Amino acid sequence: FCVLVTITFLYFSSKVTENGDGSVEETVQALREERALLERRLEEAHIHLADIKSSWSSKIASLETQLERLSRQAGEEGAERRKSDNLISQLEKKIKDFELTNESLNLKLERIKIERDSLATELKTLTAETSSTESDTTTKYQEVVRELEDLKNKFEVAHLTARRTPMEQADSSTR
Ligand SMILES: *[C@@H]1O[C@H](CO)[C@@H](O)[C@H](O)[C@H]1NC(C)=O
Repeated sequence: FCVLVTITFLYFSSKVTENGDGSVEETVQALREERALLERRLEEAHIHLADIKSSWSSKIASLETQLERLSRQAGEEGAERRKSDNLISQLEKKIKDFELTNESLNLKLERIKIERDSLATELKTLTAETSSTESDTTTKYQEVVRELEDLKNKFEVAHLTARRTPMEQADSSTR
């Protein structure tokens, strides 16, 4: 635009010098024409500039819209990313907790197994002792029963013999 104005001004100056020996009327007329031409060009330049401005402003607006969309997307992706990072760290924490729980349960299980084994051993010992005691008792009981039966038999035999002898004597005497 500045270049355009300068060129027009130079052209106008040269016209003024050319018409140096013409009449004043002609010079004024020429100046008016130059001025009209200059104003038209100025107007055109303004229109052209306005066109350029509006074209640029629509381009700038479109770029701004794109930039907004991109930054919104980036924000959404960042939020998604933060959400999934949170989820991952929560899951990792849960896994760690679970592993700790598992470990402590394993320790408890070990202790319980040891206790169970020692109880089993104790039970075996007790069972062996009980059964040997039982068989002892049975044997002793059977011995006592046998002895009692022996005694009973002996007593019966003795009693029968003692009673029969005088009766038989009496019987034989009455007959
Ligand atoms: C839990 O402990 C047992 C016994 O040590 C092991 O075999 C198992 O892999 C553990 N489980 C987890 C999920 O760590």
